[in-house]
Amino acid sequence: MITILDKTFVPFIDRAKIEERIGELASQISTDYKDRCPVFIVVLNGAFLFATELVKKVPLSCEITFVKLSSYTQTQSTGRVREIIGLEETISGRDVIIIEDIVDTGLTMNQLLEQIAKLNPASVEIATLLHKPDALLKPIDMRYIGFEIANRFVVGYGLDYDGLGRNLDALYVIS
Ligand code: IMP
Repeated sequence: MITILDKTFVPFIDRAKIEERIGELASQISTDYKDRCPVFIVVLNGAFLFATELVKKVPLSCEITFVKLSSYTQTQSTGRVREIIGLEETISGRDVIIIEDIVDTGLTMNQLLEQIAKLNPASVEIATLLHKPDALLKPIDMRYIGFEIANRFVVGYGLDYDGLGRNLDALYVIS
């Protein structure tokens, strides 16, 4: 059990299991994008660890870029969604793979998809480490999902609680 600020968390998914699953996603991506040169758009801050493990295991010619966009403060979705910050690469005509830590209500991802669509990519797919199907407000087509989880708050492996816990090398769930 670990404590972060006022909350306690218990072990949820261990590092070996996470890395095994990321390996599976990476081989799927490597097969699907064979002979193509995708652009990975990593959504900071949460996706940094997932993205690191994933792209290391994808032996394709590819570009990797980082953006910021968030709709969350503490444990509740605020519904406020910000614009993409930091996208400098030319996306027009490219095969884009968005790398996200978690798709919860889907508000953030929907906003991101809308903004990326305006840049005329050839294709867009999503790779998310976690997905909470019960929290999703409207359907989103997600091709690469690490784990579908219950609608409970998790930390670790890049995900934070009020800025803390991102460096934990496994996933923990609120107890
Ligand atoms: P959405 O817009 O509700 O889908 O929320 C997406 C963002 O909320 C993610 O990129 C995370 O930053 C954050 N988030 C959602 N659920 C959790 C959680 O269980 N733990 C930590 N962050 C979360």
